[in-house]
Parts: sequence; structure tokens; C-alpha cells
Amino acid sequence: MSDPNIFVKKILSGLPGDELYALEQPEPGKEYLKLLEERRWSFWNSKPDDEKSHYQGYDVTPELLKNSLARQVHAELAAMHAPNLSLQVSPWQEVKLWYARQMNEEGRHFRLIRDHLLELGGTWNDDYAPDFAEWNQLFGLFMNLDNHFFLDKRKEVIARAAVLNFGIEGWDHLYVQPLFLKKVEHVDSTLHDIYDEVIMPDETIHYQIGQFVLGEYATTTELQRVGVEYLDRQLVAHHRVNVAFKGYHEVKQSDLPSDS
Ligand SMILES: [Fe+2]
Ligand SMILES: [Fe+2]
Repeated sequence: MSDPNIFVKKILSGLPGDELYALEQPEPGKEYLKLLEERRWSFWNSKPDDEKSHYQGYDVTPELLKNSLARQVHAELAAMHAPNLSLQVSPWQEVKLWYARQMNEEGRHFRLIRDHLLELGGTWNDDYAPDFAEWNQLFGLFMNLDNHFFLDKRKEVIARAAVLNFGIEGWDHLYVQPLFLKKVEHVDSTLHDIYDEVIMPDETIHYQIGQFVLGEYATTTELQRVGVEYLDRQLVAHHRVNVAFKGYHEVKQSDLPSDS
């Protein structure tokens, strides 16, 4: 039962699953996941198409592609470090096993995309950091959980699974990467195949890890509340990135030097 003394700030409201913020009894795992999924779709469906991903509203040119790939190389590195944070604190051994697998796969993605970027004449080195405030805020969310430090490590694992696996990777799997594949199909067939054959199947597993962690281990009202709160934080931050990308691409399209 929810502790009436805890003040719970709702991040989003007016969506399916609002009740997860103040449950009297925990939902069964399947019902909980169903509500989170409905909440996610309802949120994104309320946004225009060019705010549902950062791949809409511009054409992939070779220079913009190198700019995107450098950011993606960095993202894979971050995606390798984030599961390690859960692996270290998870009280659930089964969850550790899944995150060990994910770290391995994100490391593989890092190498594949970095090597391809270098083949395209792009650069990658340790000085790289994304030049994009909203993007960095989203990364701050999944690495630092909006500066929250839970004494209950179960909450940390649930929050991380909600933000990265269920939230970001889940949306990548359902919506963003299929769109990206269509965009690059005729621009870069090698990159298309890297995504189609390796990265997308792996991301599907990473999304399933999120479903598994939330469905199997968020078994109390408090843990289910943490899950929905962090899904909401992810939706807000992710949407902010997509909105900001519209202006970013316009500037980049005119600014990019030919050797960037
Ligand atoms: Fe990845
Ligand atoms: Fe992933």
C-alpha cells in the first residue's frame, strides 16, 4: 500500500496509467506493463509526427550522417556504461545476467558504428561530446536519474530499466529505428545492414529486458510508482530532444564543413 506520508509529484497526468502513481495494491506484472505501454503510445500519439523521433523532418545527407553517427557512437558507449550501474546494485541475480549481456552487445554496437564512421571518412576520438543540450540532458537522465540517489537499490534498478530499456530502447525498437532504416536504405546500404542484422535485433532484446525487469520485479506499489515516474521523466526528456532536433538539423545543414 502506498505510504500516505510520501508526497508524490506526478510528472505527467491525463494519460492511461495515471493510477499507477497511487495504487492501493500492486498491479499484476502483465497488467502493469500493459498500462505502461498504453501510457507510452498515448503520450507519443498526442505529438505531431516530426516530434515522435529525431529522424523526421530532414534528409540524410552524407555530412549529416557522419554527424549523426558520431553521436550514435557516443550513445553506444553510454549504453554500455548504464547497464553496468544496474548490474552493480541489482539485488536480483537474473537481472545481472541480462545486463551483462546488454553491456557486451552495446560494446559491439560501439565498434561497428565507430568503424563504419571511420570508413566514411569521419572521425572519432576521446574528445568527442555531443554538442546538443537536450540530448545531453536525456543522457543525464539515464545515467544519473535526474540526480536521485535511492537508498533502496531496487528502486534504482527499476528506474533505470524504465528510462533506458523500456523507455528509450523500447521506443527505438517500436518506432525510431524502423524509420531510420527507411531513411538510410538508399544512402548507405552497409549501415542499413548493420542496423537491420545486428543492432535492431539486439535492441529488441534490450527492450525485452526492460519489460522483464518491470514486469517481474516491480512487485510493490512503491516500485510500480517509481517505474511510471521514470517512464514519464523519459517521455518528457525524449520529446524535448525531438523538438530541439528540428532546429539542430537546420543549423547543421547550413553549418557543417565538408570534412566534419
Ligand atoms: Fe546499442
Ligand atoms: Fe541497446
